[in-house]
Amino acid sequence: DKGNHRHFMQKEIFEQPVVVAQTLKSYLRRLENQVALPDMSFDLSEIRRVTIVACGTSFYAGMVAKYWFEKFARMPVDIDVASEFRYREPVLEPGGLALFISQSGETADTLAALRHARAEGQKIAVVVNVPTSSMAREADLLLPTHAGPEIGVASTKAFTCQLAVLAALAANLARAKGRLTAEEEAEIVAHLAEAPEAMNHALGHDEEIQAMAHLVSGARDVLYLGRGPDYPMALEGALKLKEISYIHAEGYAAGEMKHGPIALIDESVPVIVIAPSGPLFEKTVSNMQEVQARGGKVILISDKEGIALAGEGCIATIEMPRVHPLIAPLVYAVPVQLLAYHVAVAKGTDVDQPRNLAKSVTVE
Ligand code: M6R
Repeated sequence: DKGNHRHFMQKEIFEQPVVVAQTLKSYLRRLENQVALPDMSFDLSEIRRVTIVACGTSFYAGMVAKYWFEKFARMPVDIDVASEFRYREPVLEPGGLALFISQSGETADTLAALRHARAEGQKIAVVVNVPTSSMAREADLLLPTHAGPEIGVASTKAFTCQLAVLAALAANLARAKGRLTAEEEAEIVAHLAEAPEAMNHALGHDEEIQAMAHLVSGARDVLYLGRGPDYPMALEGALKLKEISYIHAEGYAAGEMKHGPIALIDESVPVIVIAPSGPLFEKTVSNMQEVQARGGKVILISDKEGIALAGEGCIATIEMPRVHPLIAPLVYAVPVQLLAYHVAVAKGTDVDQPRNLAKSVTVE
């Protein structure tokens, strides 16, 4: 049931504050100011390396998690798309945790990669939204997302719930490794608990984003730029736009622009820049100015401070609440999804069932 929404995708975008809160609830002990994981059949403190494997949007959630695992747990992390991982000969040593992320828990390439990692002696953790799925059954550590059924082919609420679980996992790994003081852990818990409200705030920009759809809907090509954890968000923005609006879009690490893609820039190419203010902001802004100097039309997604510093010269800005960097990917996912959604609606495509795509890819 779509309720009073026009599409399942729209309904699922709007459900995010509730389902992320629901998901966080089972990973945060608010009273103790601690993160918590379900029971597992191994000792987290013995893990020496993490290998993350997934496809599509779930892969981008994994890319964000890599930043967190490295930053908080100081743990080496490999990441690959499942279709590549299973056919290269990855070096999987004892003490490795292989982490699989999947909304459906049935994606053929991811499941095959899981079985390969198990055969190679890895501990298996899975983040899935379907607790009865094949991947869930084969896990040593099952980390469910509580997004509820996701009907739209474009993944939205499953993605932000994956991020919530992965942030909690990062904090647990950090604690198990002795790299987190009780105070730091309490801060992480507090920041994560702020995410649903901040996402709600982001949803408040829906109408404004709808009114911007025409800036993108006529384009042939669109670029998304971000740095650090916002780089995977750029990839996610581009994937969302291409799968439902059929506009060619690319996500790039902002610093890579000048190594090729800048040649594509002219006044016909909208460039979406995802850049919360913070240590990487200035760097992204200088990449953004390189785009503007070539006539590129920038839509900047940032916070009040970022927009005050760099909003001038952009064709549009979308103001997010000022949030801690840890939860920024959860919050910035919202405008990125809404933009793709409204562009697709403006183009009249089949938003919930885009051509050539299936909700669950159970063939190789
Ligand atoms: O069920 P999974 O999370 O394993 O699915 C992975 C991808 O097929 C999926 O994320 C796909 O990229 C979505 N359509 C993206 O919106």
